[in-house]
Amino acid sequence: MIVSTLATSTGEARRSAWMEAGRGWGARAKEWAYQFEPYALPANHLLFDQLGVGQGTSCLDVACGSGLAANVAARRGASVSGLDASTTLIDIARARTPEGDFRVGDMFALPFEDGRFDVVTSFNGIWNGCDDALTEARRVLTTDGQLGMTFWGSFDRMGLLPYFMKIIELSPVSHQSATMELGETGDVVEAMLGRTRFEVQARGTVEVTNEWPDIETAIRSLAAAGPAIPAIEAVGYDTFCGALREFVTPLHDPRTGVRISSDLGWVTARPR
Ligand SMILES: C[S@@+](CC[C@H](N)C(=O)[O-])C[C@H]1O[C@@H](n2cnc3c(N)ncnc32)[C@H](O)[C@@H]1O
Repeated sequence: MIVSTLATSTGEARRSAWMEAGRGWGARAKEWAYQFEPYALPANHLLFDQLGVGQGTSCLDVACGSGLAANVAARRGASVSGLDASTTLIDIARARTPEGDFRVGDMFALPFEDGRFDVVTSFNGIWNGCDDALTEARRVLTTDGQLGMTFWGSFDRMGLLPYFMKIIELSPVSHQSATMELGETGDVVEAMLGRTRFEVQARGTVEVTNEWPDIETAIRSLAAAGPAIPAIEAVGYDTFCGALREFVTPLHDPRTGVRISSDLGWVTARPR
């Protein structure tokens, strides 16, 4: 998490951090929602299967982005809530699932009462260093509730790795470590869950694929992920897209477009 050095207190620093994250992730909300987020659908289905999400399950998705996962849960009959730092992504979540309860806010201070949900999920939303978000997730779960989360899997099965390396290379130093922490979550997730009094139930991996019809669409979509924004601000949109072109072009097949596969790790856990 990026913490503004201008903030004068911990509360203000935290508020400015989640609002900054929301601005980044929301800057190209429609591209993220419709051209990037669907890559996670296999992980959404797998985790909801593992957690038994179905008719009547009360479900919260933390860092829900534009609410695609919440929509999958709603189609299974769950009653869904979602929280994200980005106003523009939450607008899309509400459009996708009008019956859902979607809030703009901070995962470190969830605006929901204790014991409210049967299931809390977070798809690549809770990272290394975010123990306090797990503590909040635990607070809003029923005593026999379940948590499920995903994160990037091993680097040698991560087709997007050169993309993240390029982002790190082009980002200001102040943002580089935040992006690196994304990739480290799988190594520390069980320790994080232990510290926040969860008991791990199951763990595995699932392959996800980004697929785009052509190079230009791929570049525009890759430029929509939150970590890209500091790099874009540092070097300009055109230079950033030029750097992505070097990564994307060799992956393009004129018959099938651009396909990039990566593994996500997943874990389920119960409050101890
Ligand atoms: C990798 S995206 C994942 C979005 C969605 N879960 C998905 O699967 O596509 C990370 C999300 O976390 C949100 N986020 C970052 N920091 C946050 C915070 N402190 N509180 C709430 N949401 C946050 C961002 O706005 C972004 O939508």
